[in-house]
Amino acid sequence: MTAILAISNRKGGSGKTTTAVNLAAEWGARGHRILLVDLDTQGHAGLGFGVVAGRDEPTAHHIFSKTGFSLEEAIRPSVSANVAVAPADPLFDGTGVADRSVSALRRNLRSPAIAERFDLVILDTPPSLDMVLVNALAAADSVLIPMIPHALSAEGVRQLTRLFFRIATTVNAGLTLAGLLPVMLNPRTSHHRDTLQDVGTEFGFNRLLSGIRSDIQLAEAFAARRPIHDYAPRSRGAADYRVLADELGGLWPELNPDQAFDTRLS
Ligand SMILES: Nc1ncnc2c1ncn2[C@@H]1O[C@H](COP(=O)(O)OP(=O)(O)OP(=O)(O)O)[C@@H](O)[C@H]1O
Ligand SMILES: [Mg+2]
Repeated sequence: MTAILAISNRKGGSGKTTTAVNLAAEWGARGHRILLVDLDTQGHAGLGFGVVAGRDEPTAHHIFSKTGFSLEEAIRPSVSANVAVAPADPLFDGTGVADRSVSALRRNLRSPAIAERFDLVILDTPPSLDMVLVNALAAADSVLIPMIPHALSAEGVRQLTRLFFRIATTVNAGLTLAGLLPVMLNPRTSHHRDTLQDVGTEFGFNRLLSGIRSDIQLAEAFAARRPIHDYAPRSRGAADYRVLADELGGLWPELNPDQAFDTRLS
């Protein structure tokens, strides 16, 4: 079965897209077959791989706006090995959508064609609470919450965890929390350390992943429309995303690097 990881936070600019792009590239490079679905109309996740939908081209959002549309129609190859992308529709506004059900995305992702082609689906989600975000959590096996460790960040995490529990107690009982991921981290800043202490106390220290340090090369890689794995493999950002891929692999056996080798053999 294809594993589905949603990357979400109700706060904007919290490293969701950067994490979606760079995890997809890292796991792709390890031999996993990845589908990155860009559910944010800003289209940044697709852009990070150089994939943008032109006018009238099929997008991930068409599963909501077009009757009988199948996600497969929107899937395209990317600049990275093993990573395919379903780009976003910048014109999607959520009004007048054809399919308002919470399971439209889940139905599409659980199709035999997706199961055959991909080991893992990564969902980059918008910060707004709308039917697209609800669809993402209803479809996912697990949610990863990136967050900047400063005083105002906890509220975005709280809002997302409230939604997490609502979905996990209704339409998606199998939903798990992959962890809280501190991003743009400066371990020498005492404010960051204090915030992480507070976040650990509130949400559980066992939920806190090692984190991604602040690295301007992550922003530069995005501007160059390439993942950090290709753009600056020796950078701090690349090293931290490798550690994250290992950590999540340890938590989630489907993502274990050893199994990537098996995938290539089969
Ligand atoms: N570890 C990091 N170090 C330095 N800059 C970073 C890091 N992570 C992300 N950024 C930069 O921070 C900005 C916001 O990141 P990103 O776009 O990933 O957030 P987001 O949560 O997807 O935002 P939105 O809610 O608008 O979708 C971007 O300019 C990105 O390049
Ligand atoms: Mg984003």
